[in-house]
Amino acid sequence: MSDVAAPRVVEEEARAKVNLALHVVGRRADGYHLLDTLVAFPAVGDRLIAAPADGLTLTVDGPRAGALGDCAPEDNLVLRAARALARSIGIAAPGACLRLDKRLPVASGIGGGSADAAAALRALSRLWGVASEAELARLAEGLGADVPMCVASRPARARGVGERLDPLPALPPLGIVLVNPGVAVATPAVFRALAVKDNPPLPDPPGRFDAAGLLAYLAATRNDLEAPAVALAPVIAAVLAVLRTDDRCLFARMSGSGATCFALAESETAAAEVAAAVSAVHRDWWVASAAL
Ligand code: C5P
Repeated sequence: MSDVAAPRVVEEEARAKVNLALHVVGRRADGYHLLDTLVAFPAVGDRLIAAPADGLTLTVDGPRAGALGDCAPEDNLVLRAARALARSIGIAAPGACLRLDKRLPVASGIGGGSADAAAALRALSRLWGVASEAELARLAEGLGADVPMCVASRPARARGVGERLDPLPALPPLGIVLVNPGVAVATPAVFRALAVKDNPPLPDPPGRFDAAGLLAYLAATRNDLEAPAVALAPVIAAVLAVLRTDDRCLFARMSGSGATCFALAESETAAAEVAAAVSAVHRDWWVASAAL
């Protein structure tokens, strides 16, 4: 018999998902929209910490915990992910004490809830010592369209409703700034407001991206949800205007269904400068920067 492993604490990053480009290319029979999107996962995000325990509990803290105030912890996608994993590996009475350090704005187009659920799947499969990558991907798909890409947390082109993933070549060493004006945007409302739902797919990405190549590629793509989101939350246009008038920003666009927008800059340092400048003027906006 092996020694009983000492209880250990595992920690997983739940990185923001940024849609660098997002084309809505059709609809599935169940009403979900078919997407063709390029996603990146800069090092900005929530953190999920899991420790062995009797019973399954979740506490949420961190600067954005308050935004989840009216969401009962039992409904949190993190606990749904934990229960789904326990069921799939046959743990009748799953035990883990989960702590979510919530830093990302909620309902903001950067997949915070999906990233948290994905981090829970990764953390608990380390803690409970089970589940293949294929099984995690299957469970992820059952939890939400963006969860599989967040489990991988690597640059990818995602198709279907987001579950069909093709890895992307390494992204160039640019910096990225994320800006959210503090308006929660409901994803279903944005999809409903989208006039044309069968747009052309993304051009095939090249086999390798340098900075100029990525910027040229992005210039030939869109976020089809940007116009309907701006119609619902006009402040998004103000965010984009701020980013597009800063000379250090090489490219700016909204992510997902908004309201978070991103800008690319020449370096991580340049991105940090943009972030500081935006924060200084718009003190109530959430602003972060990182390497792309
Ligand atoms: O996957 P998530 O829970 O974020 O989706 C929220 C809602 O957004 C869905 O219930 C659906 O109305 C809409 N949606 C969609 N097509 C997608 C993703 C989301 O229509 N690919």
